[in-house]
Amino acid sequence: MSAPAGKIAVLDFGGQYTQLIARRVREMSVYSEIFSCTHPLEKILAAGYQGIVLSGGPSSVYEEGAPLPPAELFEAGVPVLGICYGMQAMGYLLGGHVIPAERREYGKAEITLQGSSPLLKNVAPEATGRVTVWMSHGDTVLRPPKGFTALARTPNCPVAAMADEERRLYAVQFHPEVAHTPQGKTILDNFLEVCGVSRTWSMAGFIDTTVDAIRAQVKGGRVLCALSGGVDSSVVAVLVHRAIGDQLTCVFVDNGLLRKGEAEAVVHTFRDTFKMNLIHVDASERFLSAIQGVTDPEVKRKRIGVEFISVFEDEARKLGDIAWLAQGTLYPDVIESVSFRGPSATIKTHHNVGGLPLNMQFKLVEPLRELFKDEVRRLGELLGLPQEILWRQPFPGPGLAIRVLGEVTTDRLDLLREADAVVQEEVRAAGLERQLWQAFAVLLPVKTVGVMGDFRTYANVIALRAVTSQDAMTADWARLPYDLLGTISNRIINEVKGVNRVVFDISSKPPSTIEWE
Ligand code: XMP
Repeated sequence: MSAPAGKIAVLDFGGQYTQLIARRVREMSVYSEIFSCTHPLEKILAAGYQGIVLSGGPSSVYEEGAPLPPAELFEAGVPVLGICYGMQAMGYLLGGHVIPAERREYGKAEITLQGSSPLLKNVAPEATGRVTVWMSHGDTVLRPPKGFTALARTPNCPVAAMADEERRLYAVQFHPEVAHTPQGKTILDNFLEVCGVSRTWSMAGFIDTTVDAIRAQVKGGRVLCALSGGVDSSVVAVLVHRAIGDQLTCVFVDNGLLRKGEAEAVVHTFRDTFKMNLIHVDASERFLSAIQGVTDPEVKRKRIGVEFISVFEDEARKLGDIAWLAQGTLYPDVIESVSFRGPSATIKTHHNVGGLPLNMQFKLVEPLRELFKDEVRRLGELLGLPQEILWRQPFPGPGLAIRVLGEVTTDRLDLLREADAVVQEEVRAAGLERQLWQAFAVLLPVKTVGVMGDFRTYANVIALRAVTSQDAMTADWARLPYDLLGTISNRIINEVKGVNRVVFDISSKPPSTIEWE
């Protein structure tokens, strides 16, 4: 996909904040793209990037096999900003004196500014006379390379920032991209000024450019899209549909493991509202029989994955010759696969609809590759997608099958669906839906004794799971208000036949996981 005019390349050396750098640049209305540090420099230069940022990274320049940019980068006439490891690499390659640190400096630090530079324009000392920054580094530049001047220092770090104004090479030892460096945005903004890059990137503009790019990419070809009803695949479908209309066919595989009302909502939104070619495959029976009698969670997951591929392939075959597949790959997925530590799979099974048919030779249309999740939501909003879809909490590919613990039957799925609907309604009514990463019900494979009216009952237990999280890698159990817990419990026990007890899961991840299977 061709990028709009005015763009910055970020070379990734494996730093934990690389994505944030690109993100900040975009917040300043400049398009930016991340490349692995092993990506050929000639290609980046030929593509007309007007500035290059070298990210941080975990290595030491003295380590064997340390990733280093080609030294020609610094002679290419393009402004370069080295951040943390990027600064050490620059210092080392250009003949400065870089020493391996005895211990890593990590956390808040205060730099003292010295000299002036366009890079530090409008960066003002605080009341202390110094500027607060966030450091996280091992090696230190003791003496800048020839042609550079030191712009700042800390007691531990004699060169905390440096510049060669003539060659427009800049470097900072700290992380301007993180919120803990309060004036970091000004520094990045200054670098963009030095690059003379035009500030034309916007989400509305992004739609126009992307629509044009999709048309140019697929021409008259047909495109297939596996629609799950989740935010990423929904936004992709609508965007591609805007570009090529009926050349797009969406396949929605209804595995019978969705939540209450979900399949109907997907069909309504995409077929009735957006008028798309949508194939709704009701494959509930196929999926249920694939997992009949299975209690092992991994076997369940695998069989559902295999079944998804099989159903999707069957449908694709029926549709005849389709060359293109539209996918909701996001920026963080791309980053994970381009990191210098070794490219992983370019199609990630876990994040996309249940895993893709690997033996099908599709060419990919991935218009969200440059965006973060919240940017995708904003894009979806501009494209007119309903709030329920845009703010839908993550939902696992194997669906309710991994929340009906033990054997999955139609009856147990129905029971869980009702209990889960209560959770969804009450969490939404309490205004907590967007604050929680996920909130859902789990049906346990045990029965307990209860009493209803004058009768003793022996019925099912529902576990309530609610977590907060940034990225699902770690999660904390959500401190839901007692009243909300009470309402959910009462409603489930009174309204869902076959349940006489509700428990609340108070485990964090790790060591627990978010899902129970
Ligand atoms: P766990 O249970 O591993 O879940 O803590 C982390 C996040 O991933 C979701 N999840 C899945 N998503 N396919 C998916 O697309 C899957 O097979 C799958 N399993 C778990 C889970 O809901 C949580 O948000």
